[in-house]
Amino acid sequence: MPLLQMKNVDINYRMKKNEVKAVRDFTLDINERDIVGIIGESGSGKSTLAHGLMRILPRNGYMKASEIKLNNKDILNISDEEFRELRWIEMSIVFQKAMSALSPVHKIFDQMYDTILAHKPQVSRNEAEEKLSKLLEIVNLPKKTLNMYPHELSGGMMQRVMISLGLIFNPKLVILDEVTTALDVITQGQLLDEIKRLVNEFKLTVMMITHDVGVVNEVCTKIAILYAGELLEYGNVKDIIFEPFNPYTQALVESHPDLNPEGSTLKGIPGILPDLINPPESCIFYDRCKYRKDICKNGKPELQDYKGRKVKCFRVGELHG
Ligand SMILES: Nc1ncnc2c1ncn2[C@@H]1O[C@H](COP(=O)(O)OP(=O)(O)O)[C@@H](O)[C@H]1O
Ligand SMILES: [Mg+2]
Repeated sequence: MPLLQMKNVDINYRMKKNEVKAVRDFTLDINERDIVGIIGESGSGKSTLAHGLMRILPRNGYMKASEIKLNNKDILNISDEEFRELRWIEMSIVFQKAMSALSPVHKIFDQMYDTILAHKPQVSRNEAEEKLSKLLEIVNLPKKTLNMYPHELSGGMMQRVMISLGLIFNPKLVILDEVTTALDVITQGQLLDEIKRLVNEFKLTVMMITHDVGVVNEVCTKIAILYAGELLEYGNVKDIIFEPFNPYTQALVESHPDLNPEGSTLKGIPGILPDLINPPESCIFYDRCKYRKDICKNGKPELQDYKGRKVKCFRVGELHG
């Protein structure tokens, strides 16, 4: 059963003279209980997609789509007011830099409680405290954290608090946007374990945004590869990491030190993201692809079903037949 259905999502940013086409023709179903890693290098449109889904794009951003459904309910054509009813309650988002949004002079609990009241004014202090304490326990934080000030918390503790807050209303879908990125390796590992526990305990469906294939390998069941605003491959994490079909996916996996079977040094992918103001009419990865041929210049490959996954590449049959 798909929980989130997205069809032909386009998200643009208006500039003075032109538009940045940050996400283009993004189509994907996310099934209930899937932990989907959305991966791509910086600037590939991961946060834009998340913000579009949550209707929190900056003022110059706007989204078009032919369909967006959550739990079979149209969430594309509903009013902002109706949407507010389900934000945080049916779907929530946790950001990387949540900490900077907090006021330094108020205790953690008070700030969290304010957020809760903004969405559900009927929740009592006691109820909020009870729920948050339970969540904090799962993420290995003592209850007294709630009585602390933001500056008393480490980055890892802060992220645990923010994740707990994102789960306070038992949303079905949670978007985690680079929540472990700023943390040291050990804290990151612990937090990923805790996220796995939360996912099981609350039967969550997760969109986990990251630029790190290692993180996806660690916690996700599915992986979606985003490149310059386009979905290039989607399927089971283990299958895709074992044998990436799209050349960009392959380059991503090869450039990750822990996943590279040869254990060789980090390779990186030569070249830069294409221009998003005038995206090329060819395959979007053409410029940087080591398998490119003339056919790859002629128009865009479709996202096709291929051997149990979705992949965009003119040469997939030839290279992975
Ligand atoms: N408010 C904005 N106005 C114009 N361009 C933006 C804005 N926000 C993001 N972008 C551009 O959109 C593209 C995708 O950005 P983003 O979604 O933040 O990527 P990611 O999260 O994958 O790093 C980038 O080229 C970025 O510069
Ligand atoms: Mg981002």
